[in-house]
This record gives sequence, structure tokens and C-alpha cells, in this order.
Amino acid sequence: MKTRSDFLTLELRDIRLSDLPSLESWGAAIDYARYMSRLSPFCFDGSLADQNRSFVWFAIVVDGRDSGTVWIERKPFQKDVGVLGILLARKSLFDRGIGRAAIRRAVTIARNALGVSSVRLHVRQTNLRAISCYRHCGFRITASAETTFPDGARIPFHRMELDLAAGVPRHASPSPAHEVELPRVSGK
Ligand SMILES: CC(C)(COP(=O)(O)OP(=O)(O)OC[C@H]1O[C@@H](n2cnc3c(N)ncnc32)[C@H](O)[C@@H]1OP(=O)(O)O)[C@@H](O)C(=O)NCCC(=O)NCCS
Repeated sequence: MKTRSDFLTLELRDIRLSDLPSLESWGAAIDYARYMSRLSPFCFDGSLADQNRSFVWFAIVVDGRDSGTVWIERKPFQKDVGVLGILLARKSLFDRGIGRAAIRRAVTIARNALGVSSVRLHVRQTNLRAISCYRHCGFRITASAETTFPDGARIPFHRMELDLAAGVPRHASPSPAHEVELPRVSGK
């Protein structure tokens, strides 16, 4: 018989201004610049006044401990398109299905709160873990290109998109606490 200790609990809670100092330390803990260039939504200007209108933005809470962040923001000139960003704050959390569960929850909430009909992201082609996670959530590669960073580094990336017309992603049933349980060891 499975008991509660066989599961991780995962909850999304709205980001608060008091979380902002933690973002830098979450990012630093995984050397985030290797994977991504931002720790907050592009539209974030220091105010959360537009939270749940222009963007949804959460702390990912695993077994009661703040463990990363996920957001979806509306594209300014394509308001039915959401843009996703995510990071987990400890490498020990990677590859346990937490990312995909957090994304599924965030997508469901964003669809209802923001009215988006698709979600998009850009991912470096070297980030095979993230690409696999996104594929598990239903994202598909829709374009590939290369960008040049200010230091001259050339970074190939994919654009990936999730079309929500097909329905709510698997395991995404709404719950008021935004809480789901994941097997602690396997069975993602
Ligand atoms: C990307 C991220 C959110 C994914 O969350 P996660 O909980 O680790 O992902 P999941 O466990 O849901 O899925 C990871 C999948 O990648 C696979 N994977 C891991 N390393 C891999 C590699 N080198 N090559 C191919 N697949 C790989 C895992 O095996 C797993 O797939 P599986 O379940 O089919 O075995 C998380 O790893 C993270 O925060 N990474 C650092 C920041 C980052 O990259 N953010 C995204 C920027 S676009």
C-alpha cells in the first residue's frame, strides 16, 4: 500500500514581492545562465499589479519548501499566446517529473486566468532535459534558429509550442490549492 511518504507534494503559489531576493539565489544554485537568460517574466517591472491579468507567476513548492519558479505571460501583441519560463532551484530536484507537473498546472491556470490558447517558449538546443520535459507536456518544436549573445557566443535554440485547442494537458485537473502528488521515486 502506498503511503503519503511515497509521494512528493507539489504546490504552486503566487509569487510575492518578498520572494524576489530568493530568485537570484535559486538561479545561482543551478548556475542558471547555462540554461536561460531571465529569472522573471519579460513584462515584470517590479510591480505585481498585473499578476493574473498579464501574467501568472508562481513559486514551485515541493514538500513545503520553495523550490523554483514558473511563469506564463501574455505576448504583448498576440494576447492569446502565452510565453513560459521555468527553473527548479536545486539540481537534486531535476529528472523527477517536477518540471512537467509544474508546467501542466501553470498552463491550466494560465488558460483560465489569461485566456491564452497556446503557450510558447524558446529553449537552447543543448538543453536536452528541458526539451524532453516540454515534449512530455505536449510542446512541439515549431522553429529553430541561432541567436548571438553580446559576448559573441552563438546559441542555437528551438521555439516550442503547445496548442491548447486540443484540451487540458494530462494530470492538470484544477484544485484550489494548486497541489498535486508525484511518486517520490519513479512513475512520472
Ligand atoms: C528544465 C526543468 C524545468 C525540467 O524539470 P524536471 O523536473 O527536471 O523535468 P522532468 O523530470 O519533468 O523531465 C526531464 C526529462 O529529461 C530527461 N533528461 C534528463 N537529461 C537528459 C539528457 N541529457 N538528454 C535527454 N533527456 C534528458 C529525463 O530523463 C526526463 O525524461 P524521462 O522522464 O522521459 O526520463 C529543470 O530541469 C530545470 O529547472 N532546469 C534548469 C533551468 C532550465 O533549464 N530551465 C528551462 C530553460 S528553457
